[in-house]
Amino acid sequence: MLLIQGIDYVKCSECGICVVACTAQLFSETDDKDKKIIFMNPHEVCVKCGHCISVCPEEAILFEDDDPAFNFEGTKKLPDIVSYEDLMKILRMRRSIRVYKDKPVLEKKLEKVLQAMRYAPTASNRQNWRLTVVTNKKEIEYLSKESTKDLKLAKKLLPLRYLALPFLSPGLRKRAKDPRTEVILDRELGAEEKGQDIVFFNAPCVIILYSRPYTSNMAPNDAGVVITHGMLAAQALGLGTCWIGIAQRVFQKRKIRKHFKVPKGYLVYGVITLGIPDIEYQRAPPRRAVRVQRMK
Ligand SMILES: Cc1cc2nc3c(=O)[nH]c(=O)nc-3n(C[C@H](O)[C@H](O)[C@H](O)COP(=O)(O)O)c2cc1C
Ligand code: SF4
Ligand code: SF4
Repeated sequence: MLLIQGIDYVKCSECGICVVACTAQLFSETDDKDKKIIFMNPHEVCVKCGHCISVCPEEAILFEDDDPAFNFEGTKKLPDIVSYEDLMKILRMRRSIRVYKDKPVLEKKLEKVLQAMRYAPTASNRQNWRLTVVTNKKEIEYLSKESTKDLKLAKKLLPLRYLALPFLSPGLRKRAKDPRTEVILDRELGAEEKGQDIVFFNAPCVIILYSRPYTSNMAPNDAGVVITHGMLAAQALGLGTCWIGIAQRVFQKRKIRKHFKVPKGYLVYGVITLGIPDIEYQRAPPRRAVRVQRMK
C-alpha cells in the first residue's frame, strides 16, 4: 500500500501546493532556508490519498508503492478527453443487462473492469473492499438457487400475511399488503420453474463485493461507488452488467459467505453480473426529474 516518504529536495521548487492539498495537513512551511516545505507524519495519520503526488508540479514527492504514479499524458483536464455531453451519453447509454450471450468474458476484459473498480474513491480512502469473481457455471447456478429460496418462502407465507402484519417491519408490511407482490412472485417463480435463471440471467460471470463493516459505516456507500466504476468500465469494453440486489440477502447466511470465500468479519454489499450483452438498446428512457430543495 502507498507509503509517502517525504520530499525530494533536489526537485522541490517550494511552491507549497502540497501544503494546501494534503487533507491530513502533513506538509508545512518552515523558516529553514534549505527545507522550506517539510513533511511529517508522526502519528501515521496519512490517509494515503496520494493528493500530494497528484499535485506536485516537480514530481518531488517520494513514495513507496508497487506501482508508479499515472501521468495524464498531455491531458490535464477531463473536458479535453470527454465533454459533458459525451459523458452524459455514456451515463445514459448504460443499461442493466438481463440478456447475455452464452460466451465467457475474456480474462483481459475482466481484469480491466477490476482495475477500474480499484480507482474508485472510498471513505477515508480505506479501500477495504474485496471481491470474489465467479465464472464457474455450477457455482453461479448454486447461488441463483439459494437466492430464490427467500422468494419461495415469501410465496408460501403470503396467504398468512395478515396474521404476520403486526410483526413485520414497515417496509415488509407495505410489500405484504401490496397486491402486486403476489403477481411478481408468481411471474418470477413461474419463470424459474420453466428453467430460467431469474437471478443472474445466465450471465457467465458474477462479481461479489464485500467489506468489513466495523472499519467504516460507509462500507455500503463505498460499494456503490466501486461497483459503478466497474459497471461503466464494463460498458466501455462492450460488456454488460446488472446489480443483483436479490442475490445480496442470501449472504446473510454464514454457509453462503463461507462457500463464496467471503472472509470472516466481512459482509457482502454488492453483487453484479458481467457478460456480453445479447440485446441492443436504441435509446435511453426518461428518468424522474431531480427533486431538489435549494437553500440559497
Ligand atoms: C442497488 C441495486 C439493486 C438492484 N437489484 C436488482 C436485482 O436484484 N435484479 C435485477 O434484475 N435488477 C436489479 N437492479 C437493476 C435496477 O432494476 C435498474 O438499475 C433500474 O431498473 C434502472 O434500469 P437501468 O439500470 O437499465 O437504467 C438493481 C439496481 C441497483 C442499483
Ligand atoms: S497521501 Fe494524502 S494524506 Fe498522505 S501526505 Fe499525501 S496528501 Fe497528505
Ligand atoms: S508540491 Fe512538490 S514542489 Fe511544491 S512544495 Fe510540495 S514537494 Fe515541493
